[in-house]
Amino acid sequence: MQPIAERFQAVFERPASDVFFAPGRVNLIGEHTDYNDGFVFPCALECGTYVALAPRSDNQMQVCAGNFDDEFNVWSLQGAIAQDPSCQWSNYLRGVCAILLSQGHALHAMDVYIEGNVPRGAGLSSSASLAVAFTKALSDINHLNLSVGEVARVAQMAENDFAGCSCGIMDQLASAGGKDGYALLLDCRDLSFDLVAIADSLSIVIIDSRVERNLVGSEYNDRRADCERAAAALGVNSLRDASMELLEQKRGALDALAYRRARHVLTENDRTKRCAAALKAHDLATVYQCMHDSHVSMRDDFAITVPEIDFLVATVDALLDNDGGVRMTGGGFGGCVVALVPKAKAPAIEARVKAGYRAQFGKEPAVYHGKASEGARRLLC
Ligand code: GLA
Repeated sequence: MQPIAERFQAVFERPASDVFFAPGRVNLIGEHTDYNDGFVFPCALECGTYVALAPRSDNQMQVCAGNFDDEFNVWSLQGAIAQDPSCQWSNYLRGVCAILLSQGHALHAMDVYIEGNVPRGAGLSSSASLAVAFTKALSDINHLNLSVGEVARVAQMAENDFAGCSCGIMDQLASAGGKDGYALLLDCRDLSFDLVAIADSLSIVIIDSRVERNLVGSEYNDRRADCERAAAALGVNSLRDASMELLEQKRGALDALAYRRARHVLTENDRTKRCAAALKAHDLATVYQCMHDSHVSMRDDFAITVPEIDFLVATVDALLDNDGGVRMTGGGFGGCVVALVPKAKAPAIEARVKAGYRAQFGKEPAVYHGKASEGARRLLC
């Protein structure tokens, strides 16, 4: 039996009927481009959120969260579903129910046990995996047949409207549509994607600075507003429709901050496409250059890195010799660094980073070896 089904049985004193899973993700390159209709290049991870459930015969959604000391949250599927300000984790799930109901879907009441193993606050999308796992579960149980894109959109709307974060679609799409062994070059404008194999000779090393970030209420929403201001000054609907030539031409119409934010987004879109093509062609020197430049742009133009992250990136960068790449991953202000490196280099990188970080900051970073994995799915109970 799945451990999550055992937990369900222990809490609800009856067997679970179904188990679902949705992964966290790591983004290789393409940061803060998704909400500008741009390109991103993430892969789904092995860690994620598990959902065990069984239908109920009334109108109640009764959810118990393993990561929050088996805290319960209960809401009715009849009438409007409100946010619960005293229970933030429940808002992702309340949001999913409210959005599906507002789209006209009928939902079964259920007992649900949820537990995840994505490190929280590390920028590896624990919240997207929560919302995607629950959306996937509701889609299957209620025979809604939502596509990968629809699952991702519902989960994103739940996060936008119920959890207070104006995130883009990258995390939810990667979690819903990940493919074992592949990274996804996603076009966030039309949600189409191209799969790029990650060769067995490469390691995805994820280094968690343990500087905890919290997207909700962080500067994330400010960055998004800066980009919208830049697009308006350039006379385009989104920065995807602008070019560096246009940005330079209209430089005078933008405040200094909006100019730098836009420059990051425009150059990052280009780097993301080049990096994916280079990975396909096994051209690691170009992968190195794209990831290096991406980090510099996040640090100097988008201003979303912190000293701990810059230190980790510089430490790995010095060991790479143009062979592989390293940069901060995710929304910023802490979280993780991702390195895509030849397998043989991974142990030395891990040792150096741990010793150097301890000496500099007095704490040890957590190091994970990521594997590009399959997206949201039903598991055998
Ligand atoms: C967070 C958001 C994503 C994306 C990244 C930055 O992970 O949830 O939508 O904007 O930050 O690339």
